[in-house]
Amino acid sequence: MRIDGETGHVLGAAQAWERLLGVRTERDAGQAGLVRGKDGTWRWEHDASPEAEHLAELYVPLCLGGPRHVFAQLGQSMDGFIATRTGDAVYVTGEEDRLHLHRLRALADAVVVGAGTAIADDPRLTVRACSGSNPVRVLLDHRGRVLRRRRLFTDGSAPTLWILAEGRRTAEHAIDGVEVIEVPGGENGFEPGRLLDVLAERGLGRVLIEGGGVTVSRFLHAKVLQRLYVTIAPVLVGDGVPGLRFPGPARMSEALRAPSRRFVLGEDLLFELDLRAGEVPEDEYSGTGQARDEGEHAVHHGDGDPLGRS
Ligand SMILES: NC(=O)c1ccc[n+]([C@@H]2O[C@H](COP(=O)([O-])OP(=O)(O)OC[C@H]3O[C@@H](n4cnc5c(N)ncnc54)[C@H](OP(=O)(O)O)[C@@H]3O)[C@@H](O)[C@H]2O)c1
Repeated sequence: MRIDGETGHVLGAAQAWERLLGVRTERDAGQAGLVRGKDGTWRWEHDASPEAEHLAELYVPLCLGGPRHVFAQLGQSMDGFIATRTGDAVYVTGEEDRLHLHRLRALADAVVVGAGTAIADDPRLTVRACSGSNPVRVLLDHRGRVLRRRRLFTDGSAPTLWILAEGRRTAEHAIDGVEVIEVPGGENGFEPGRLLDVLAERGLGRVLIEGGGVTVSRFLHAKVLQRLYVTIAPVLVGDGVPGLRFPGPARMSEALRAPSRRFVLGEDLLFELDLRAGEVPEDEYSGTGQARDEGEHAVHHGDGDPLGRS
């Protein structure tokens, strides 16, 4: 057993998480008491609880992703849906995945959602299930269809960037604490790489793309994601709001594969894909840029708090 020589203390999950929040470089990792094993996994140098070890293994690679690192997440059913056909996402995955989502937010400078999620969920996008700072909230609202009473505009708990297509800005968009940015958008909406540049210019280099399916698929399509977290819950929805969608190849041998890791989160299974090395054939993603019309699934625009993820 590895006992901390100075204190004889066993590192618990809360303390481990506090330490991880300060890790951005390998030097920071060393100072936090982390060591990398021969198999490449990170562990605590001194005695740590199983939960603290789990946190190190899961999050240190993300912490060390560098100042420009783009990662996405989705929580989905076994049959690939992130909400029911009415847009209800309360809850797809369990409590441990909610905690994971809040940890991802805490490790990000900015959290990005699409207009569909802002309308269906009215999310707050803050860090509440764990300690950590709230990221800047970024809403992709190409057509300016999200109403100003949404919580990310009104609750004042973190700065919000409201991204509209050029020419969409009106007096309606002027809200205290909300920065409105017009970005040129082509036929397929905003170019994800350009959006990331806009964020980087504001010092927001570590970006979580939180959802929904259309938004994450577009960033994946543009090949600007370095890491993808997909949590699969043992539930079947039948039909609903799809998660990742893009025209796939004819042959399984050409499907997108990337180095992966798996973690058990309660009843759910979390997959982490490391997309940095992935070379994706150009035509594998062609056509993904089209927004899925909401008519394809009747999204309920109610005031719920889906997923407990808001
Ligand atoms: N389980 C989960 O992990 C999870 C996470 C988040 C959300 N959800 C659920 O997902 C549902 C919403 O997902 P969704 O796929 O329908 O919609 P979405 O991804 O939230 O929003 C899509 C819309 O955002 C705008 N947008 C996104 N990327 C853009 C880009 N690059 N350029 C221009 N506009 C862009 C477009 O708005 P316009 O159409 O106005 O152009 C687009 O149609 C909700 O039911 C929510 O509860 C689940």
